[in-house]
This record gives sequence, C-alpha cells and structure tokens, in this order.
Amino acid sequence: MQNKKIIIANWKMNPDSFREAEELFNGVKKQANKLKKTKVIICPPCVFINKLKQLNKKNIISLGTQDCFRQDKGAWTGMISAKMLKNAGADFVIVGHSERRGLGDNDQIVNQKIKLALKNKLNAILCIGETDRDEDGKFFSFLENQLLSALSDIGKKFVKNILIAYEPIWAISAASKKVITVDELQQISIFIRKILMDKYGAKSFEAVKVLYGGSVDFRNAEELICGGGVDGFLVGRKSLVAERFNKILEIVEKI
Ligand code: PGA
Repeated sequence: MQNKKIIIANWKMNPDSFREAEELFNGVKKQANKLKKTKVIICPPCVFINKLKQLNKKNIISLGTQDCFRQDKGAWTGMISAKMLKNAGADFVIVGHSERRGLGDNDQIVNQKIKLALKNKLNAILCIGETDRDEDGKFFSFLENQLLSALSDIGKKFVKNILIAYEPIWAISAASKKVITVDELQQISIFIRKILMDKYGAKSFEAVKVLYGGSVDFRNAEELICGGGVDGFLVGRKSLVAERFNKILEIVEKI
C-alpha cells in the first residue's frame, strides 16, 4: 500500500441488486482510474464480490468484504469463511465494525476473525471506537483495550497487513449530529500509533495505516486528512452515490 492515502467504501447492506452495484462500482472506477496517490477499496455485500471482480480485471479498485466468520470450516449454517472470501476475489476484510460488535462480536471473536483473515491472505481493516466520550478520558483505556485485545497473539510481521479504522460510534451515520474535530482526531491517531509502537517497535509508528470513519463527506474530508494525522477514511453513507464518493477521492488525491 506504500504511501498512498486509502479510501474505503463500506456499502453496508446496499444496494439491493447487482445492476445497481455495477453502476455504482463503474461510476467510482472511472474516478479511481485517474488517481495516483490514493488507493480505493470497495467493500460491497459479499454476494457481489465475485461479479464485481469480473468488472475489475485491472485491479483499479481493491475489493474487500464487511465481515468474515470466526471459524475456517464446518457446519455453520449461513456463515462465510475468510478463505471463501479470498477465493471470491476479496483482498481486504473489515473486522470489528461497531455494527457487527452490536450483533455480538466481542474482542475475542474480533481477534479470531483477524487471525483467520491473515491466515487466508486477506488484509484486515480493524475497526475500533468508543460509544461515547467521558470527561475523565476513560475512553482512552477503552480504545487501548479494544486495540490490544484484537491484536492479541498477532506478530509484528503482520503489521503491514492490518489497517486500523478509528470509528467513534457517536460520530457514525446520518443520525449523528456530532462531528469529530481535527484536534480530537489527531490526538487519537497519535494515541493509536503510540500503542502500536509500544507493541511492535518504533517502525510501526509510521508503517501502520490509521484511518478515520464517521460521517466523512466532501465538506470535512480535507480538514480531517490534513490535520487529523490519518492515512485515509472509511466511508459509509457517502460511498453509496458515485459522485459524492468521487468528490472525496478527488479532494484526498489533491492533498
Ligand atoms: P458513515 O459510516 O460514513 O455513514 O458514518 C461509517 C461506517 O460505519 O463505517
């Protein structure tokens, strides 16, 4: 991933049909094709991965998925393994998104999923984020614990295959009225890099990719990426319309 900025689209449970997915994907591909300093990763629902891969033979966009199961094999009705996702064309997988944590993924499960992702040569996009902020700053130790539990027993050689997406739950989605400030984001990005440096050594301070997610749009993208100390964004809602998402790509590319 060298020194490129990274913009990830998390389509969540959208769109309803492959026809719409194709249109959205092709709309973003046109813009992604022009980028030199920005890497684009799209995480569609996994039913679309295989077909989108066919539209993307030159790998202009990298494909990821939004989750994987915590076991590799066996009788698990309805589940999809990391290996299946890799074989279907994904190179990335989001793990520990707050919406998955809300459905029961605890720190131990998140750790199992990252290990399986790495074992199957998928890069893991690890999401961490506090529900609320308290004045005493207890959320710092919450974040540290989330990060270190997720990375438990994961060796230094994998640092390059793990992206950390800081997504404070209070800032995610349209319902949120609160927006993170540049100073708040910068403080957290340094905090995350420092924890990783203590765990994996000095080089990881720069090597690790720290992203931000939570109501990113074309209005706040420039400010957050310039002053927030992050390497890119994880974008939800604003990734569902090609023009809006492309605008974010354009802004980031110019920086
Ligand atoms: P949002 O979602 O951009 O709609 O806030 C981000 C996410 O949940 O990953």
